[in-house]
Amino acid sequence: MNLADLNKVALAMVAPGKGLLAADESGGTIKKRFDAIGVESTEATRRDYREMLFRSSAAMTETISGVILYDETIWQNAADGTPLVKLIEAAGAIPGIKVDEGTQALPNCPGETITVGLDRLAERLAKYYERGARFAKWRAVIDINQSAHIPSMTAIHVNAHALARYAALCQQAQIVPIVEPEVLMDGDHDIDRCVEVTTRVLNKTFQELRIQRVALEGMILKPNMAIAGKKCAKQASVTEVAEKTIRMLKACVPAAVPGIAFLSGGQSDEDATAHLDAMNRIGGLPWPLTFSYGRALQAAPQKAWSGKAENIAAGQRAFTHRARMNSLASTGTWSAALETDKAA
Ligand code: 13P
Repeated sequence: MNLADLNKVALAMVAPGKGLLAADESGGTIKKRFDAIGVESTEATRRDYREMLFRSSAAMTETISGVILYDETIWQNAADGTPLVKLIEAAGAIPGIKVDEGTQALPNCPGETITVGLDRLAERLAKYYERGARFAKWRAVIDINQSAHIPSMTAIHVNAHALARYAALCQQAQIVPIVEPEVLMDGDHDIDRCVEVTTRVLNKTFQELRIQRVALEGMILKPNMAIAGKKCAKQASVTEVAEKTIRMLKACVPAAVPGIAFLSGGQSDEDATAHLDAMNRIGGLPWPLTFSYGRALQAAPQKAWSGKAENIAAGQRAFTHRARMNSLASTGTWSAALETDKAA
């Protein structure tokens, strides 16, 4: 492992004003997104859609440091035969790859899951590196369900263990691991319960990373924000989300980590931007805070595109707008007024 090079890639992923585009939806997830806009999910439509994003040159060159791809996409070519990874590289962004293989039911823990995909991961990583991937992603999923006593310590422990196994294998393959322990915002819990669970999850994750000798300087953390569950009657204000998220991260995340790139997790586009902006306005943090959004960057372009070739320019405009809003948020210089100014 060359740690200096891993650190260089990690720092580039969180370069000032830039963040990550999570375009790594699995076959099932992208079908769900396409169903919502009335588009059939085929290899060709998935390619056309992602090609539209990667050819959004202003967004890609000014605001996107790297793109997380799904296995199918990393091997796909654009309509003119250019590999999609080459479009990303030509825009000055870094190709990355989701390497987990989704979740399975966790034995003895009803309602909980373990993320799988460690078998033969070393061989897969070597092939992805050859294709151009310089970072990877693995998502662990932790649900909160108070009446079912979820999450269990078992689920937190085994998912943290798997994240660390993945991260160590990535670094051995000279690939920067994005470590993503996602605490879902689906429940009816309040923000303080989210903080309590996320704190446990982050502490266990860093404990496992240390046990397995992962070099913290060569990774990126992708956490959820401290946020109330969607079904909670008492939603937290932007200021409360920002303050509680920062307090939690300062307590749990070592300063050696080069950067933190949040997931959006089902927040509205504007909430995801406003929260990131508010945190960066507080400032004085040991790591850059940026975005690694899937839905909060893509919902608008998906709608604008709706599967029609004549809407490609509109889709690219919508993507560029959201990417610029989040780029501003990553430096604490966004304002809600800019949302209506689509030229911004
Ligand atoms: P969301 O921003 O839609 O949560 O997606 C980010 C991601 O990569 C989840 O694994």
